Amino acid sequence: MSIEIKNLSMIFGSKPEVEKTLNLIDQGLSLEDIKQETKTTIALNDVSFEIEDTELFVIVGLSGSGKSTLIRCLNRLNEPTRGEIVVNGEDIIKYDKKTLRDYRRNKISMVFQHFGLLSHRSIVRNVEYGLEVQGVDKKTRREKALQALEVVGLSNQGDKYPHEMSGGMKQRVGIARALISEPEILLMDEPYSALDPLIRRDMQNELLSLEDYINRTIVFITHDMNEAFKMGDRIALMKDGKIVQIGTPQEFFQNPANDYVKDFISDVDKTQIIKVRSVMNKKIHTLSKDISRSDAFSYLDSNNLDHIFITEDKKYVGMLTREDLAKSRSNEIDNLIVKVDAVYRNDYLKSLWTKLEGYDYSLPVVDSKGLLRGQISKDEMIKALA
Ligand SMILES: Nc1ncnc2c1ncn2[C@@H]1O[C@H](COP(=O)(O)OP(=O)(O)OP(=O)(O)O)[C@@H](O)[C@H]1O
Ligand SMILES: [Mg+2]
Repeated sequence: MSIEIKNLSMIFGSKPEVEKTLNLIDQGLSLEDIKQETKTTIALNDVSFEIEDTELFVIVGLSGSGKSTLIRCLNRLNEPTRGEIVVNGEDIIKYDKKTLRDYRRNKISMVFQHFGLLSHRSIVRNVEYGLEVQGVDKKTRREKALQALEVVGLSNQGDKYPHEMSGGMKQRVGIARALISEPEILLMDEPYSALDPLIRRDMQNELLSLEDYINRTIVFITHDMNEAFKMGDRIALMKDGKIVQIGTPQEFFQNPANDYVKDFISDVDKTQIIKVRSVMNKKIHTLSKDISRSDAFSYLDSNNLDHIFITEDKKYVGMLTREDLAKSRSNEIDNLIVKVDAVYRNDYLKSLWTKLEGYDYSLPVVDSKGLLRGQISKDEMIKALA
C-alpha cells in the first residue's frame, strides 16, 4: 500500500499553547522565536512525502528528531495536530473509531524496539495474542501463529517461553506477532537497536530476505546511517521535526542536500553499503517464454534493444540477444535463451565487478523468490561506485 503524508505536523503541549504555536508558525516566525514564546514541542513540522507500495522505506535521524512521532502517526497512536495521511487513497486521520480499529487490525502493524512479549505466555500464544483478542477461534489462530513463526525461522519453538529465547529470537517473535494479521504495512521502530552487532547484522539480512516473501510496505526506523543505507530502498533523514533529505542511498552520496547531510554520511563506507537494488534499473522490458522468434525480434527492434530478459510468471528464465535472434532460422526461441546467472538484489554492488568485467549486456536482478526485479549494466555499476 502506498502512503502519502501531506503537511503533517505534530505539536505536543496543552491545547491553547498548541493553538498559539500554530498561529506563530503560520505567521512565519522562526522556530527559535516560537520556542521562546510557547511551552510546546514541535515534534513534526509540516512534513510531506510519499512511501511507495512494497517499498522498504527507512527513517533515520538523531535522538529527538521526530522519527517515532512520525511512525506513530501512521497508525494513529499519535493524533497529528494537522495534515493528512492518505493510505491507498483514504485519509486515515478522518477515520472514525470503528474504521480506525479495522485499519489497525487488518492493514497495519508495528514491531516495537523492546519486543513487548508477555512472559507468562508461551511463544506461540504470544504470537496469536492479537487474534485471540479479536475473538478469532482457537484452531484458526493457532494455525496462523505457527505459520508466522515458520516465516521468521522459529518453527518448533512455539512451546518455549520468552525467558528461554535470545534477543534475536525475541525480536523474531515480535515480527511474527506483527505479521499474523497479514498487514499491508509493517512499521518497525528501531527494531534492532537492542541487539548486539552480530545478531543485528543477521537480523538485517533476514528482514531483507523476508521482505521478498511478504512483499509488504515496510517503514523502518533507525538512528544508524549504515543500517539505513543497508536496508532502505529510500531513506528520509530527519532533523528537528523536518525532513532534511529524502532519496536512495545513491542520491545521498551523489547530491547531499547540505553540510548536515554530508556530515551525517561522512563515515559511511559506500562500497560496503550500496546494494544492487539501489542502483539497478527497475524499468525493464521482458518477454514471455512462449513468444515466437519473429515477434521477439520485432519487439527488440521497435524498442531499440540489443537484449531482453525472458520471464515466466514474473520469474527470471533467461536472456535473448538480438544477435542470436537475427542469426536463427527457427521460429522458436527455446534454443536461443541464454541462462545468464542472475544477481540477487540485496548483494553489494562491489560483488559485481568480476561478473560484469568484459560483459556487454545487463545482468538480470532477482529477489530471493527468483522474481525479476531489475537489471544492471557495467556503466551503471561504475557510475555508482565512482
Ligand atoms: N508524548 C510526548 N509528549 C511530549 N513530547 C513528546 C512526546 N513524544 C515525543 N515528544 C518530543 O517530541 C520530540 C521528538 O520525539 P521522538 O520520540 O519522535 O524522537 P525520535 O527521533 O524517535 O528519538 P529517539 O531516537 O530517541 O527515539 C522530542 O523532543 C520529544 O521529547
Ligand atoms: Mg524514537
